Amino acid sequence: MTAAHLTARRAGPLRGTVRTPGDKSISHRALILGALASGVTDIEGLLEGDDVKRTAAAMAAFGAGVERLGEGTWRVEGRGGFSEPSDVVDCGNAGTGVRLIMGAAAGFDLSATFTGDASLRGRPMNRVLKPLGEMGARWICRAGGRLPLTLRGGNLRGITYILPEPSAQVKSAVLLAGLHAQGGAEVVEPEATRDHTERMLRCFGAEVEVTEAGGGRRIVVPGGQRLTGTRIHVPGDPSSAAFLLVAALVTPGSEVTVQGMLLNPLRIGLLDTLGEMGADLSVTNVRDEGGETVADITARHSELEGVDVPPERAPSMIDEYPILAVAAAFASGKTVMRGIGEMRVKESDRIALMAAGLAACGIGVEEAPETLTVIGAKRGNHLVAGGAAVITHGDHRIAMSHLILGLAAEAPVSVDEPGMIATSFPGFVALMQGLGADIAEAPPAAA
Ligand code: S3P
Repeated sequence: MTAAHLTARRAGPLRGTVRTPGDKSISHRALILGALASGVTDIEGLLEGDDVKRTAAAMAAFGAGVERLGEGTWRVEGRGGFSEPSDVVDCGNAGTGVRLIMGAAAGFDLSATFTGDASLRGRPMNRVLKPLGEMGARWICRAGGRLPLTLRGGNLRGITYILPEPSAQVKSAVLLAGLHAQGGAEVVEPEATRDHTERMLRCFGAEVEVTEAGGGRRIVVPGGQRLTGTRIHVPGDPSSAAFLLVAALVTPGSEVTVQGMLLNPLRIGLLDTLGEMGADLSVTNVRDEGGETVADITARHSELEGVDVPPERAPSMIDEYPILAVAAAFASGKTVMRGIGEMRVKESDRIALMAAGLAACGIGVEEAPETLTVIGAKRGNHLVAGGAAVITHGDHRIAMSHLILGLAAEAPVSVDEPGMIATSFPGFVALMQGLGADIAEAPPAAA
């Protein structure tokens, strides 16, 4: 997609049954663990978004055989460890990619230089460098722990690390480094975060001990472990499905079914929240696919009411707050999203950009350091105005959220840099058009 802008307009209802692309978190991990392992790992349903393709290229650079056999079907031939890349490793827009790969690479006697796009070069890497440094890794980087960064790995010692922020990326980086550290790694997370690394390590034959403690967890990975290649089936990404479900909820007359969506309990805070708002959602065909629970979810247009989203829910829906804010815009009453400060260090400052975009579309918003409040526009016949050209700062989720808003607003909404949508959801526009959405290339003036 090369369009400079995309514009979404109100049209008919959205109807149909679709599959969302593979889960981004699980796709990155499948490639990285496959490259760390000995032997062949066959992956089905891999997300072929730009972020994950960068990780695939990085794994080849670290010495693995990486081959695309067909759509979503990839084979990784791991060499039981990483070797030194001969060039800079460019992780594009992917925070998960670079942080997990740095953790994995730190366990080996090598130097590797990492960079990324302007967004990734602006994001904090200190959160990963701090524990890796305690384990013995060394690096040189730009001010504030920013990329480009050269990491020197090898000879790691064990660590017990209490996560200062609820971040599955940091937890995973430490666990992956721990696999090759003398003494392994113990990570204590005061709030449980997505556990795909722990689950997948077991699929690769690794020993991982997890104990629940309060709302959090203690995870122990012994050092000196060898992983063995396996088969991974990547389920549908709930963070991508979220856009389709909310699109159906806010567009009158709609009914959309998303098949094979991951239902990991640490990823479905949005479903709980939408349920509390009065969303008509049904979950059918619940099944197990490759160690994760998946199901088909149907969303029907609903009259939504604002809710107070508690801070402890944030880790289970951290990437879904932008689209929740859109659902909240179409609701009656106020939605308060608390404890979401981590949103400010994603691909963009998502609190600031959602507040600006919604305000430009005529929605009442209040922004605080850790909180976003949206005043639902639904009062009698009053609707969401729309009619804005939204600046996305190249953030895929900000772009998709505002396009969904445009589908049900009174006036069209356009977004810039729509090519970035392909980082997590290639085919988003075609899939939405197939459901009946009016999303097309158009200059912002058309909005
Ligand atoms: C991810 C963890 C989350 C999430 C990101 C994917 C992962 O980031 O926002 O999109 O795959 O581990 P943090 O770990 O920074 O919260």
